[in-house]
Amino acid sequence: MTVDRFHLAWFLQGSSVQAWGEPWTGNISGEWMSADMFLDLARSLERACFDYLLLEDSIYVGETWRGSREIYLKNGMSIPRQEPSVVATLMVAATSRLGIVPTLSTFAYAPYLVARIIGTLDQVSGGRAGWNMVTGSSDLSAQNFGFDKLPPHDIRYDMADEFMEICTRLWDSWEPGAMVADRQTGVLTDHAKVHTIDFEGQYYRCRGPLNSGPCPQGRPVIAQAGGSEKGRTFAARHADTIVAHIKGADKMKEYRDDVRARMKAFGRSPDTCKVLYLISPILAETADEAQDRARQREANAAQHLDARLAQLGWITNIDFSTFDLDQPVGELTTNGHQQSLAQFLRKAGKRTLREAIISYTSGGASIDLVATPDQVAAQMGEVMEEVGGDGFLFSMPNVNRRTIAEITDGLVPALQQRGLVRTAYGSRHLRDNLLEF
Ligand SMILES: Cc1cc2nc3c(=O)[nH]c(=O)nc-3n(C[C@H](O)[C@H](O)[C@H](O)COP(=O)(O)O)c2cc1C
Repeated sequence: MTVDRFHLAWFLQGSSVQAWGEPWTGNISGEWMSADMFLDLARSLERACFDYLLLEDSIYVGETWRGSREIYLKNGMSIPRQEPSVVATLMVAATSRLGIVPTLSTFAYAPYLVARIIGTLDQVSGGRAGWNMVTGSSDLSAQNFGFDKLPPHDIRYDMADEFMEICTRLWDSWEPGAMVADRQTGVLTDHAKVHTIDFEGQYYRCRGPLNSGPCPQGRPVIAQAGGSEKGRTFAARHADTIVAHIKGADKMKEYRDDVRARMKAFGRSPDTCKVLYLISPILAETADEAQDRARQREANAAQHLDARLAQLGWITNIDFSTFDLDQPVGELTTNGHQQSLAQFLRKAGKRTLREAIISYTSGGASIDLVATPDQVAAQMGEVMEEVGGDGFLFSMPNVNRRTIAEITDGLVPALQQRGLVRTAYGSRHLRDNLLEF
């Protein structure tokens, strides 16, 4: 199978000071509030013709490790987190073609509010907005919104189905042509073309219409990352792009084929949803140097085992401080990110917790990419050919201007020279760029 070009996106873990303490981060610990580094990131990604930048979010201070906030606050682990829709607005203003996709959790925002925030972002960006739909993972986050705990994992997806239906109907509550702005008749909006939605579901009610008006894209782009049975079904029904954390080309292909089959069952063309796989390439001038950097990353992970385990505990609600580091991990379950836990357990196998977490944090991406830009570009092309599409999502553990340049000014030109990615945007709208190939 030959693959046409593929898509590129960036997964920004946090909209603030997370890179503090890493080399090459300048004075970020004093400057993080302005989000300037992330605006530079957005500009660089646009120069490299990325499809979109996805802003990850969580909405609580971690407390899973030893039942304490200490390790999370001390190390700036997912703290502080600025409101992603605000940072997304700054990014939109700093760019003109790049898609901007903030994460908003369904338990924390009302459906009307999500439709309004993302709809407004679509308007002010001229059709470049998306929404990363997540259902949450921690009871601690639920407690910030007056609930004792999150609903069970699968119920959260049932609720998200209703949530999605409300948003879609609100975005459709303005018929095309509703804004007439006719100076002769003095009519701005044809009231007969703006409708209530009168939604009464099992979990939500909403009247409508959406007061922020119609969106340039009609429906902004929906991104999703579900990997569980329910998550895949949800993605197949609703997503325009899936961000997937799947290890190995064979499993990546299996996942994509599965989602595409599910889409067909819902009557959707599989080509209307682009599956992007998480990668964290390690680049250098020579392959040996890149291997050295990879070894350094692994050694670094080994030195900070507590923090690495606290991070995994943060998304799975498991306090790994109570486990024996030198025993096999065993069976575990979670009401949090099921796919991430499954991925970790699969990789762990019979290894001890110590071995498992080192290998998980240093090689957690979909494929290992450790080489020169040109070698990595070739490898990415080969993997895409094997998988069938649709592209990659960069998730860099050390976001700084040097890492950004390595990708946008080092790797992307190598991909472009091979004809694997675009050299210019085809359209103004995010969805159209995703559908271009
Ligand atoms: C690349 C990627 C990005 C994600 N971003 C977020 C996020 O920003 N916030 C969040 O709460 N969950 C995020 N998740 C978790 C997913 O929403 C989802 O819960 C997880 O993939 C587990 O899938 P499941 O819910 O189907 O079990 C992300 C997952 C992946 C793979």
